[in-house]
Amino acid sequence: MSKDSLDTLRCKIEDLDTALLKLLNERAGVSRRIGKLKAKDGLGIYDRDREESIYEYLARHNKGPLKTSEINRIFSEIISVSRKLQSAVVGDDTESQVKSIAAVDTSTPSKNTSVYGIFGNPVAHSMSPLIHNAAFRLLGIDAIYLPFEVKDLQGAVAGMRVLQLRGASITHPFKTKIIGLIDEIDVTAKEVGAVNTLILDGDSIRGINTDWTGAVRCIEGLLPVKGNHFVVVGAGGAARAVVFGITREGGKVTLVNRTRDNGLALAEAFGLPFVPLGEIEDISGDCLINTTPVGMYPDVAEMPIPKGVLSRYKAVVDIIYNPFKTRLLTEAEAAGCMTKNGIDMFVFQGAEQFRIWTGREAPVKEMKEVVYHRLLVSGH
Ligand code: ATR
Repeated sequence: MSKDSLDTLRCKIEDLDTALLKLLNERAGVSRRIGKLKAKDGLGIYDRDREESIYEYLARHNKGPLKTSEINRIFSEIISVSRKLQSAVVGDDTESQVKSIAAVDTSTPSKNTSVYGIFGNPVAHSMSPLIHNAAFRLLGIDAIYLPFEVKDLQGAVAGMRVLQLRGASITHPFKTKIIGLIDEIDVTAKEVGAVNTLILDGDSIRGINTDWTGAVRCIEGLLPVKGNHFVVVGAGGAARAVVFGITREGGKVTLVNRTRDNGLALAEAFGLPFVPLGEIEDISGDCLINTTPVGMYPDVAEMPIPKGVLSRYKAVVDIIYNPFKTRLLTEAEAAGCMTKNGIDMFVFQGAEQFRIWTGREAPVKEMKEVVYHRLLVSGH
């Protein structure tokens, strides 16, 4: 590149920086005025829905070459600065709280520190360490939660006893395999047919399932389980926990699946009606729940069912949380349905683990915040 063209381009960057500087300060001014209005109306600074809609707007309008995750990172800083400006007006410290619990803890564990972990393979993308460590820090509990990429599950269980890990989460692909390797299984975990939580009591390891409680609590955020009709799409492990939770709490379920044999096997185990995915247009219900991975990053343009059926439901739940608004949920909103993504279900199953392990109520709001923060700032 010639010197002339380099100078020209640098000049252009300077012009753009000048424009950006002006716009950022203008935005800050407007933000401060919003802070004053919030103070007058006694409103808090932090508004998750509003922030979510900003990120959605950016994702919709971003034409590149910057990736949406890169735009999110930049705007995360801009929004964070705006919150600080508004906090100065209102005297609310949510911003510093979210930042500090999302930060990496640098304190050194001691021999008194309780150790928890997650056994899975792979575990690199698990957000369980994030939510549990955030909760330990926030409540001042001397404990740490670590990811373990397990190749030998029996060895990991023996290691848990020897090293006195107080508890562990169990994730893919071990939720069923773990059942034969532990000392005791909770009756509901037996009925679900899967264990996602271990508790060490002396030398004895007990397995329980909190996935179904997470599912029920998530659904109850939209509509009561009891007395409503749920159409559950998918017949894997996640569907099992969802179906168990709904039927246990008095909801009615129709199971829908792509492969007839898999669907029928789960439907028969719980005494449910089964409908092949190709015939979903023939049925309706109060709430539709997707338990399949269809629509998960990177295949974000896909959805598991035809969008025409969505208007037959009051509510739609997707167990996917990456992206946190799947195409299914976007279409469901457009069809007038109430919606929930998989973050609630994930956080609530973790919150129940936390309560069982520590005897303390989990800080659910902050656990959700760190998940949103991670998804927005780190991208996918
Ligand atoms: P998990 O145990 O994590 O719930 P899984 O056992 O892989 O996951 O189950 C995935 C479910 O999603 C299955 O019911 C699967 O349908 P099949 O029984 O036909 O395999 C369903 N699923 C996966 N990909 C799908 C797709 N592209 N369209 C429809 N259903 C799909």
